[in-house]
Amino acid sequence: MNVLIIGSGGRENAIAFKISQSSLLKKLYALPGNPGIEKFAECVSGISQDDNSAIVNFARNEKIDFVVIGPEAPLVNGLADELDRAGIKVFGCSAAAARLEGSKIFAKNLMKKYNIPTAEFETFDNPDAAKKYIREKGAPIVIKADGLAAGKGVIVAENLDDALAAVDEMKNFGAAGNKIVVEECMIGEEVSLLAFTDGKTVVPMVAAQDHKRVFDGDKGLNTGGMGAYAPAPVASEKVLKLAEEKILKPVIAALNSEGIIYRGCLYAGLMIVDGEPKVVEFNARFGDPETQVVLPLLECDLLEIMLACVRGTLADKKISRSKKSAVCVIAASGGYPKSYKKNLPIEGIEKAESLGALVFHAGTAKKDGKLVTSGGRVLGITVIDDDLKKAVEHVYKCMEVIKFQDIHYRKDIAAKAMKYLSD
Ligand code: AMP
Ligand code: GLY
Repeated sequence: MNVLIIGSGGRENAIAFKISQSSLLKKLYALPGNPGIEKFAECVSGISQDDNSAIVNFARNEKIDFVVIGPEAPLVNGLADELDRAGIKVFGCSAAAARLEGSKIFAKNLMKKYNIPTAEFETFDNPDAAKKYIREKGAPIVIKADGLAAGKGVIVAENLDDALAAVDEMKNFGAAGNKIVVEECMIGEEVSLLAFTDGKTVVPMVAAQDHKRVFDGDKGLNTGGMGAYAPAPVASEKVLKLAEEKILKPVIAALNSEGIIYRGCLYAGLMIVDGEPKVVEFNARFGDPETQVVLPLLECDLLEIMLACVRGTLADKKISRSKKSAVCVIAASGGYPKSYKKNLPIEGIEKAESLGALVFHAGTAKKDGKLVTSGGRVLGITVIDDDLKKAVEHVYKCMEVIKFQDIHYRKDIAAKAMKYLSD
């Protein structure tokens, strides 16, 4: 079949890598794609990811059988619904289901109504009422914009002054910040649990851990993610079972009760509080960089699983995964997530690949035939090895050969996992 992937990041590069191995694949396209995805797919330029009707027309003209939507914005924007109406199969949930990510208030109210464990909260559209509530509750406390804010709409305030200032900062997010959630600050370790679902059956993938802060030791500003590893041992058998029974299955059933069928990848961002998982957030898509470790560990045909999610036959599929471990380190531009240089030549990718790395592109471009940096997160370097310790050592050997001016990467990806591992 002909398949089109929407998106241009490391996540979409990992999806393209995995789909390219499918026996069902005839031709792969990516819109817009990137120089890493180009290895597996024909990249389509000149059509915006926001232009639903242009994408539907392209899919019709090129006889695309199946579309995979990577990022959240096209999901929230109803691209899956339009493709569905045009009779084109799509992996990616409807706009109604994507509200789980697109509106924090929708997600929190749903969890409250159906008793899904999450932080205690209140919602506000009046800043003064929010401030009054914050004064009553005290710090630490978390303030969130309701809508999508490019990953920046959450402020974990350590003290009362910061919390009150955060309420005013929500204005900076435009319409997304008109309504806000104020919630209890949960203390624990975070884990990302991604799952396939066809709206009835939910099959979790291996648990991964992201590293959101820019510097080692979880210091510095929040980023889109500086690295990930899987499986994450903090997600013990017990935690995984609880997450499946108390969170993943109930939220899909809750959506069903509300008349919404969720098909696609459901991402639960969890906080393990006193050995039990609570929801930090839901995303309606694959996580990035988590996907760059989770998908390479899948030992089955991704396209087949995605099709089963669309057809409602996921219960019939056996989804196996490697017993090995995967680590992904993000090579970022110096200065990211603030301002950084672009157009810097990149070297060493082939050498890293010869050392066993999978190199996924995020912010790269071709200029005069040469590969250069074009974004904050430039590359994701993933290594799979027999266990986590070996994978960590191996990935950092690969990092030594990746070169561009002002390269920055964290040196402590997966360090948090080591306390759970026996020697
Ligand atoms: P979100 O965009 O909702 O994932 O929030 C971004 C980050 O803020 C999360 O990954 C957590 O590290 C942190 N965070 C969000 N909500 C809470 C909470 N209720 N308690 C503690 N940390 C939180
Ligand atoms: N890694 C966090 C996210 O994909 O939202």
